[in-house]
Order: sequence, then C-alpha cells, then structure tokens
Amino acid sequence: MKLIHISDIHIHPAPILGFDPIANFEACLAHIAEFQPDADRIVITGDLTHLGQAQSYQRLKGMLEVFPLRGEQRPRLIIGNHDSRETYASVFADTKRDENGFVQWTEETPAGTFVYLDTAEPGTHAGHYCARRRAWLTGVLSEARRAGKPAWLFMHHNPIAVHVANADAIGLIEEAEFHAILREYRDTVRHIFFGHCHFTLSGQVCGIPFSAPRSTNHVCWPDFSGIVSRMGYGAFSPSYNVCFLGETGTVIHSVDFLDEHKVLWADD
Ligand SMILES: [Fe+2]
Ligand SMILES: [Fe+2]
Repeated sequence: MKLIHISDIHIHPAPILGFDPIANFEACLAHIAEFQPDADRIVITGDLTHLGQAQSYQRLKGMLEVFPLRGEQRPRLIIGNHDSRETYASVFADTKRDENGFVQWTEETPAGTFVYLDTAEPGTHAGHYCARRRAWLTGVLSEARRAGKPAWLFMHHNPIAVHVANADAIGLIEEAEFHAILREYRDTVRHIFFGHCHFTLSGQVCGIPFSAPRSTNHVCWPDFSGIVSRMGYGAFSPSYNVCFLGETGTVIHSVDFLDEHKVLWADD
C-alpha cells in the first residue's frame, strides 16, 4: 500500500517567515498528482492553517476541490496546534469526530486500521492527549488487536521529545500516559506518522517506529543548542513522504518536491 504523508501546510493568505504557504501547498499537490497518481491514501497531519481562520480553511477546501485525485485518494485531514477545531469543522462539514467531539476516527485500509488522532488543545501550542482521548484510542487498538489487524497512527504532535529545545517546549504534555498505551499495544501498532516539528524525523518510541516529513512551507532547522527561545528556519527544501506499507516491512522516502527540476537522468 502506498501512502503519501504531508504535514504542516499552514495555509494562510500572507507569507509566513517569507514563504508563501498557498503556493507551496499547490506545488506539493501538483507534484503528487503528477508523480504519485497511484497513491492509495494521502494524509495531512495537521497544522492545516496558520491561524485557524475560516478563510484559510475555505482556501484549503478550494485547493482540495480542484485536486484531481478522487475517491480514496482524497486527502485525510487531521488538526494541529495552529488549527481551530470548531472553525475547521464548520468549513469541512464531513469532519469525523469521536463521541467527545475530538477529531478522531478510524478507517480500514488494505494495510490495516488507520487511526487518526486529535492532539490539539485550545490556548496552547503543546499537544494534549487527555484521558477521554486515551480511552478512545485504547478501545480502537483493542478492537484492532481482536480483529488481528495492524494499526497505523497519525497524529500532529511528536510522540516523544526530539532533543530540540524550542520543539520540546511544545511537545506532547501527557507523554508518559501516551507511552503507556504504546507499550500495551506494541504488538498492534506498526508505525506512527506525525508532523509539528517541520524537520525530517525518524526513530522509534516504545519499540514502535515513527517518521515525519518537513513542513511544506517554513522548514525548520534541528537546533541542538538547548536554547528554547529560538527556532532555526530557512529556505530549505520542503518535503512530503512516500511510504510503502507492506506485510514484511515499511519503507519511507522523503520527496523534496520543489527540487524535481534539478533531477538529471543518467543512462545505465
Ligand atoms: Fe506546524
Ligand atoms: Fe504544530
């Protein structure tokens, strides 16, 4: 199964830190339509907009309406700390929510159960995964385990500290509680896909592999100085990930979609 993982598109009518999020996301979508027409699923792991404004969600909706891939290839959207849950749901009428109103749902795919999580919390950029959300996730993973299906988690916030001070200051608050669930369902969860940090990441948490692409707009620099108050960013290539989910393994490619014009082809 071929999954396209996009994150942190930050749709906004004006440039952010000198980068135009609308032009960049349009370039991302155009690249996917041209080079990944066989994608089975496309998921955007939050920070859909920069300020959670209705006009930005409307603009996003318009861009997705003209995106040529259809049916199961329609991008699945989850929210991040820059989003507004209620404004998002007011624009996207088909928003799926759990019984407590969080934007969480599951989907059965050829690779197993895709689990979309809501780690947003109004008033803070940090991630939250409260007891009600954890109860929902536990139920979902129990069901997947009972059915003998692998589960693949999608979330905005990084599930573990990344050793970059300004990113870890707005990480997942209930990290220990979240890890307890991961440890319990390590046999069921195959991979965790997330964003939030705006730089490429991979590793494992509680024995479960994870990955994140860069933002499609303002790409950050992993800064290990320990200085909380600064965020490195610059004109680095934005990316999305192309992920192959197989029975025997997972393969993830980072595609710097603005660099396609630099490709040279050598005859073997
Ligand atoms: Fe972001
Ligand atoms: Fe974020």
